[in-house]
Amino acid sequence: MSMPKPFNIALAGLGTVGGGTAHILLEKATWLAERCGRALRIVAWSDLEGHGKRDDCDLSSVPWFEDAAEMAAQAPADAVVELIGGVEGMAKQVCETALAHGRHVVTANKALLAHHGLALAEAAEEKGVCLAFEAAIAGGIPIVKSLREGLVANRCRHVVGILNGTCNYILTDMAKTGRPFSDILKESQELGYAEADPSFDIDGIDTAHKLALLAALAFGHRVDFDSVHIEGIAAITPTDITHAEELGFQIKLLGIAKEYDGRVEQRVHPCLVPQSSDIARVAGVENGIQVQGDKVGPTFYQGAGAGGLATGSAVVADLADLARGLRRPAFSLPVAALKPLIPAPISQRRGAAYLRFMARDEPGVVARIAQCLSERNISMETVLQHGQKDQSGSVPVIIVTHQCQETDLYVALETTAAIPEMTEKPLMIRIESFDDSQAS
Ligand code: HSE
Repeated sequence: MSMPKPFNIALAGLGTVGGGTAHILLEKATWLAERCGRALRIVAWSDLEGHGKRDDCDLSSVPWFEDAAEMAAQAPADAVVELIGGVEGMAKQVCETALAHGRHVVTANKALLAHHGLALAEAAEEKGVCLAFEAAIAGGIPIVKSLREGLVANRCRHVVGILNGTCNYILTDMAKTGRPFSDILKESQELGYAEADPSFDIDGIDTAHKLALLAALAFGHRVDFDSVHIEGIAAITPTDITHAEELGFQIKLLGIAKEYDGRVEQRVHPCLVPQSSDIARVAGVENGIQVQGDKVGPTFYQGAGAGGLATGSAVVADLADLARGLRRPAFSLPVAALKPLIPAPISQRRGAAYLRFMARDEPGVVARIAQCLSERNISMETVLQHGQKDQSGSVPVIIVTHQCQETDLYVALETTAAIPEMTEKPLMIRIESFDDSQAS
């Protein structure tokens, strides 16, 4: 019996994820060949640093292309793996060129997919090849496969997740050590977790890219990044983390997508989550995702959300599927069958909130804040004021509200600005409890 043809791979980008992917393909060559029934072989690679030798892999004997798009056109590859990153430029060109030449594309590029995923998926469909992106969401967790295949029998109600390892690493470390934000960010950059532009992590944009893709997979509608409400973690201080813990919560940056009344809510912001929830226990660079299906009920996925080997593991999973001959539409359904997304604005949210006011410690401040809240029908559940002054002489006044209307919160917070003792803009962090109704 003749040996089946190897599955040929061209690798564009040999950074953290590219290096991890190459390492796995080389180290696990026999293991993968046994499981796929054919060898997975790197036949070409491209990276601006053209020597191909890294601590974790050596591609110096494999043909190198200076121009990754030229490689996508000319290398004798069944699949082109795009691990360059970026929304436009070379990453997009490599994917478009590979698809135009009838090659499968495997990418970890969530930013590219959030903006151009539908056009790339259409291009793949025209040529009868696949666009695969397991590695683009939640690093090594097989969440794309879970939504597209494992949960295919389910109508999803919601997808809620910690989708950015860098932010979770920062928030976990701040809670553990009280160290400043900037030191911890530097550390996560050194570990290879952060985006090239770390404001994508901190400002919630990376989470939003991933959420827009997850929502499309979960609900079968077109990717709509522009309708994601996005807030990052830059305003969170160690004071908030300590007070949240005292109240029985952890602070996490969540991506939340819910479908109700024919509309889809997509939002990214820091949240207080109950310490007893699965999500609260997701620590460090890990990601965690809860998917609520109508038949299976709640399911939860947890694992490394960033890093070369974890993300490389997801890239290799896509390559193995393609080598085995498995073919699926990128977003579960052919692009023409995806519904248009009708957004549900965040202003429609009803839920509880944690409010932090910084004010001079003088009589009547809490009463004045309470007045502003009650004017908007917002009821207080808990008030904390421990009287520790910061360097400016302000003290934090923490209020946890009962469920209320998002728009009432906006107005109430606006009116507190007129309280003379107030020294800073108030901070609001929404409280999420993961029930299945619109109210969270
Ligand atoms: N910067 C991303 C993160 C990498 O921290 O999660 C994985 O997408």
